[in-house]
Amino acid sequence: MGKRVVVIGSQWGDEGKGKITDYLAEKAEVVVRSQGGNNAGHTIKFNNRKFALHLIPSGIFNPNIINIMANGMVIDPKALLSELDMLKKEGINDYKLYISNRAHLVMPYHIALDELYEEIKQDSAVGTTKKGIGPAYMDKVARIGIRVSDLLNEESFKKSLELSLNFANSILKSYNKLIFNFNEIFTQYKSIGNILRPYITDTSVLLNKLIDENKNILFEGAQGSMLCLDHGTYPYVTSSSPTAASVPLNSGINPFSITDVVGVTKAYTTRVGAGVFPTEFEDDISKKIREVGNEYGTTTKRPRRIGWLDMVVLKHVKRINGLNHLAMTLLDVLTGIEHLKICVSYNLDGKEIDYIPADYNEYQRCKPNYITLPGWKEDITHTTNINDLPENCKLYLNTIEKILMTKVTILSVGPDRTQTVTLKNIF
Ligand code: GDP
Ligand code: IMO
Ligand code: MG
Repeated sequence: MGKRVVVIGSQWGDEGKGKITDYLAEKAEVVVRSQGGNNAGHTIKFNNRKFALHLIPSGIFNPNIINIMANGMVIDPKALLSELDMLKKEGINDYKLYISNRAHLVMPYHIALDELYEEIKQDSAVGTTKKGIGPAYMDKVARIGIRVSDLLNEESFKKSLELSLNFANSILKSYNKLIFNFNEIFTQYKSIGNILRPYITDTSVLLNKLIDENKNILFEGAQGSMLCLDHGTYPYVTSSSPTAASVPLNSGINPFSITDVVGVTKAYTTRVGAGVFPTEFEDDISKKIREVGNEYGTTTKRPRRIGWLDMVVLKHVKRINGLNHLAMTLLDVLTGIEHLKICVSYNLDGKEIDYIPADYNEYQRCKPNYITLPGWKEDITHTTNINDLPENCKLYLNTIEKILMTKVTILSVGPDRTQTVTLKNIF
């Protein structure tokens, strides 16, 4: 029986989803991206090579894998072309890639609108990646979006571009911003459509056929559950739902199809962009974590904010995703830190709570309650067997497993594909 495994980020993104997807892809036959766009940045390292993928699924390096960009994505066609170009330059030519005809397009004016909305929000700016993701999803919801299928039909493209661009230009104009020219965009994107044509198909039909054929399928999440539009730290979130529950909708499969959910979890926490982050701290230890863990955005190069591991976040994320595996990443980065803190609950106005308040101001007032565990000094980056880990490192993992009541089934002790320990086979 084939398995359908969802790999999600269980914090605020950048947990190492790319690395874990690439690692699991060894035994998968299909890899699917189902939401978000090139706001994502997934880093993959193998054979002394390093790749950053933003739109293309992380199965692309294996010529036998079918890679699918599904209907829930918002795709910037220019960014996609430059990613395909990057692969070509790197000698990656042998791959299988399919793009959903129902996915929406990110157009150049969406990027201008993303910048404008951030500017208007001033102190309340979200700190978006400025890739046009929010405005593209806004057009989708407002039913003025442009779909990939429109690119293949001149009349449809003309009509949908007119509608979408008129709205965008009227907003841009009212804020004295540069407006976009219809003919320029129309001509340019028509030819991009022709380049992408061979990849475009009904990926829901394809995916269901692959399920019927009992293929092992991986769904590679983008962003993290705490950036979910519904269950994250609204309004400091992204514009899609990076949860396991969103996968069936965003890829056109039935909800009973999912067999496993892997929560990729950093051994500590990071966040890029604005928004509440209870366990955040800034001192010599966080600086060390930032440097050792190379905690700078894959997409925007911004330094990532650093915090201790937050079990209230992980419990919330387990609740909404039904995690049945933990993939713990960047454990090696904690080596050499004398005392490790884990947040086990919050203090809200003198009361202990273990849930995420919906009210943003309440959440901002939450102070973390920590337990402190002893650290370890030994280098763990070459570990291949869990039993060889230092005792304090095992204690750290066991404590997390106990609190979350979920087993670590994959352990990552370095960025390279080989620096991974499997504790239980998922496929
Ligand atoms: P994603 O967006 O979830 O795919 O994560 P990113 O690629 O944006 O960020 C994760 C970063 O951590 C990348 O630089 C990875 O190469 C790196 N990484 C992943 N796993 C490990 C690990 O176990 N140890 C270390 N030191 N780095 C890791
Ligand atoms: P991966 O897949 C980390 C954050 C942005 C900002 C908020 C909204 O690499 O984990 P957006 O451009 O989506 O409207 O920005 O979400 N964000 C991410 N943070 N990793 C990501 O993706 C992110 N994608 C969006 O920094 O705070
Ligand atoms: Mg990332």
